[in-house]
Amino acid sequence: MPPELYRGKVKTKILFVDDEVMILQGLQRMLRPMKDNWEMAFAVSGSEALELMAKQPFDVVVSDMRMQEMDGADLLCRVKKEYPQIVRIILSGQSDREAALKSIKSAHQYLSKPCDPDMLKNTVNRSIALRDLIGNDKVKRLISGMDSLPSAPSLYIEVAELLEQPECSIQSIGETIAKDLGMTAKILQLVNSSFFGIPRHITHPVEAVSLLGLDTVKALILATGIFSKFEKNNSFPFRIESLLNHSIKTGAIAKKLAIMENFPKHLVDEAFVSGVLHDVGKLILADNMPVQYNEVLNSLKSNNIFDVEVERQIFGTTHSAVGAYLIGLWGMPDVIAEAVAFHHSPMDYAIKDCVPLTIVHVADGLEHCVSQTDLPAANIESIDYGYLDKLGLTGRIAAWHKITTSINDESKSDG
Ligand SMILES: [Fe+2]
Ligand SMILES: [Fe+2]
Repeated sequence: MPPELYRGKVKTKILFVDDEVMILQGLQRMLRPMKDNWEMAFAVSGSEALELMAKQPFDVVVSDMRMQEMDGADLLCRVKKEYPQIVRIILSGQSDREAALKSIKSAHQYLSKPCDPDMLKNTVNRSIALRDLIGNDKVKRLISGMDSLPSAPSLYIEVAELLEQPECSIQSIGETIAKDLGMTAKILQLVNSSFFGIPRHITHPVEAVSLLGLDTVKALILATGIFSKFEKNNSFPFRIESLLNHSIKTGAIAKKLAIMENFPKHLVDEAFVSGVLHDVGKLILADNMPVQYNEVLNSLKSNNIFDVEVERQIFGTTHSAVGAYLIGLWGMPDVIAEAVAFHHSPMDYAIKDCVPLTIVHVADGLEHCVSQTDLPAANIESIDYGYLDKLGLTGRIAAWHKITTSINDESKSDG
């Protein structure tokens, strides 16, 4: 089928799957106003959906969870294997929590029923924006030409697998971490730094997990593991410890700000993880292309511009896009990939709420500001004030700046 054009843009092709015809008809009615932007198809079963996918390309599949013949999780699992480029969204009712968990590995996004059209539009637009960015030919070409991409550290994979087992406990996870002496030393050093504001000295990973939570410790394992893979590279154009320090501090600031903004616990954790990983793309660019990365640094010294602008000139893409691509490869949730992908351009992200991306964008700017200069909050150039204004958050900046300054002051006393 020839692609239909809408204002010069190809329409997004979406397939909806539900075995209740009435629900599909309801969706069709509800989404009629989207017909100028979306080309929609509807299937009453998983097998019909797969038949349609074999005949024509789709960008997004939105499937109900509970279906008779093939449930949503099984369908999305097949889609992931056969059409990995398609965005997979699951719709599930409150009572399907357990079943929805089953789809955790195969869905990019979850929506609960009954589905609000604005929420659906938003979710589809966000997913498309993320995939447009990381699926961009320039990113793919750059990454496919690289000799090495770091895989997730084995301890991280071990802990993630352990978490899936029903008998998993804080004790067993802490003990698994403790077996890796090198990693344990690094993790304990980080959790005892003042960024985390823990009043007593932690001496064992079990304590770290119970005080900071699993997601935080898991993110620290991932970050220290990834950063340590580059430690032996002497030709690195910048100090790896400086970037690790900036990353952990940005994560800790993001966590504090997310708590201040009353984020639910899972989003606080996601803000932290995103903060810790937001600049991971810099490692990849600098490791694989040190000569060009030096050019970026030299250009930054002589021009008053942002690193992403220079990266775009030299590499055709940015550390944000490369980092988000990697995070996608590691199988981390979209909310983290989005925060990393758009941390320098939050306005490109189609959402009007305060989300982990918002927090990481601010935490990154504030961290740069308090660590390097003492500019007042309103002068921090990398923060997009127009974006914060749109979200109605301008009034929060002073309080965010204050908390960041106190984290930074405490960290100076770490020595
Ligand atoms: Fe960055
Ligand atoms: Fe940064």
